Parts: sequence; structure tokens; C-alpha cells
Amino acid sequence: MEPLRTTDATQIDFRKKFDLTDKVIVITGACGLVGRAFCEAVAQFGGVVVAADIELANPIQFASELAARNNTKALGFVLNVANRVSVEALKESILSSFGRIDGLVNAHQNKTHLKFEPFESVSDENWDTVVDVNLKGTFLMCQIIGCHMAENGGGSVVNIPSTYSVVAPNQNLYKGTSLGCPAAYSASKGGIDALSRYLASYWATKKVRVNMITPHGVWNNHEVQFEENFARFSPMERLSYNHEVASALIYLLSDASSYVTGDNMKVEGGWTVW
Ligand SMILES: NC(=O)c1ccc[n+]([C@@H]2O[C@H](COP(=O)([O-])OP(=O)(O)OC[C@H]3O[C@@H](n4cnc5c(N)ncnc54)[C@H](O)[C@@H]3O)[C@@H](O)[C@H]2O)c1
Repeated sequence: MEPLRTTDATQIDFRKKFDLTDKVIVITGACGLVGRAFCEAVAQFGGVVVAADIELANPIQFASELAARNNTKALGFVLNVANRVSVEALKESILSSFGRIDGLVNAHQNKTHLKFEPFESVSDENWDTVVDVNLKGTFLMCQIIGCHMAENGGGSVVNIPSTYSVVAPNQNLYKGTSLGCPAAYSASKGGIDALSRYLASYWATKKVRVNMITPHGVWNNHEVQFEENFARFSPMERLSYNHEVASALIYLLSDASSYVTGDNMKVEGGWTVW
């Protein structure tokens, strides 16, 4: 929607700017920790959620429960983001169900990074898997779904890099835990960051805004030692919650952020500020 050409803010309904009623929003990794909070928030703001995830995550059941809970429409879709045919099929399914696409959120990730591998011994196979899902998956989703929006009046894309595309992991964070962050994760996330900036510029006149949300340390019943380490290095001295990340998404998907593109909204409790 074109912004109102006025200097009179009394003409503006600011709450309406955040409304997503009937906007069709595709969310990958929809059943994950952050993805499911994204889906819930978008549905509560009136959006039609397309919940896409791998079969194991059962996105079809997830979408039907989401729709029933929020009294909205939703579509579940079994997707492999790293496979062009699968992403093309997703696009066709959305268009035949709803006839339009207004937003794309790439919240998928490959979890190989949770099992830390020292850089010296990273295998080609693990490197390729992480980069294929994280970076190539985001590329395919942007190319196939994003191009559709660019050719059909615009939309909003939100990609998810990581704190580790902004700063390096502090290795002390993982001391005494089984966790860690390998190089392929950081590198794939850095690629997402660069791709997002590229597309923000490339699609600016096509009315497709491309932004990022960078979460950090989203609480998921972590090992106690990790939570204690995290508090020591975090200005806010705590992990975040998935719903805190989802609030940022509503802003970036909606008309509330109509003049924002190429931005990386860091929801990381000030982790990178010092
Ligand atoms: N959780 C955090 O602390 C944190 C921090 C920084 C960045 N992030 C990023 O936020 C995003 C969401 O993280 P999360 O914690 O919800 O992760 P998660 O592992 O809980 O969820 C990821 C989802 O992606 C899905 N997925 C995996 N491979 C896929 C594929 N090939 N095709 C489609 N879907 C696939 C998984 O099934 C899962 O549901 C990720 O991009 C992650 O890198 C998370």
C-alpha cells in the first residue's frame, strides 16, 4: 500500500499499520522454536499463515491446529528448502489455495551446528549440508517466492541470519557444555546477511522490502551451565524467548515498517553492543 502523503499524523491510524489481516505469509521452519512463535504472532494479527517445514516436523497438523486456535486460514506444507522442485511446488500450492503471496519469512535452519565440530575436522559433507539448507534454501525461497512478489505488486521478506554473522562466537560461552558453533553455520549466516542486503537494493523499486531479524540465545531448556555462561556475557544477563523475537516480525512484515529495507533488526539483548 502507498503511504499517505501527509504531514498530519492525526490522519494516521497507527494500530492499523501493524494489521496483517488476510495477508498471505509464508514461513519456513514453521514448526521450529522461533518459527512456531512467528506463526502464532502472524495468525493473531490476522495473517494467513503458510507453515512450511520438513515432513518430520508435521507442518500440516501444525497448520490445522494454528488455524483452529486463531480462527484464521492456514496452510501446512511439507517442504525441503534446499530443493528447487519442492519450493516450486510450494509456490503453486499457495497460489492455488489463496491466489497471492504478501510475505516470506525464512526461519529454517540445519541443526548440524549444535554438534560442535572443530574447524580442523569439518567434513565436506557437513559443510555442504549446512550451507545447502541455510544459504541455498534462503536463496531458492527468495528467488521463487520473492520474485513472484516482485512481479505482482510487492511484499515483505524477512530472513534470519545470526549474531554469528555480525560477530564471532565467544568460545568461552560454550565452556563446560556440549554446545558450540561451527564455522559452516557462521559462514552460511553471513551469506544470508549479504544476500538480504543485495535483494533489498535489487527489489527496492519493485516494492519488495527485504529485512533481517537476528535472534540470539533463544531459551529452549538449555543446559544450566550454558544459561549461566550466557548470563555472564549478555548485557541483559539472560537468554531471550521465542515470543520476544516474534514481536519484531510483525513490525517488519506489516505497513508499520513501510520505509524500512535492508535492515538487520537485532533481537539479542545487546550481545553485540560491547
Ligand atoms: N534459537 C536461537 O537461539 C537462534 C539464534 C540465532 C539465530 N537463529 C536462527 O533462527 C532461525 C530459527 O531458529 P530455531 O531456533 O527456531 O531453529 P529450530 O531448529 O528450532 O527450527 C528450525 C526448523 O527448520 C526446519 N528445517 C530444517 N531443515 C529444513 C529443510 N531442509 N527445509 C525446510 N525446513 C527445514 C526444521 O524442521 C525446524 O522446524 C534459524 O534460522 C536459526 O539459525 C536461532
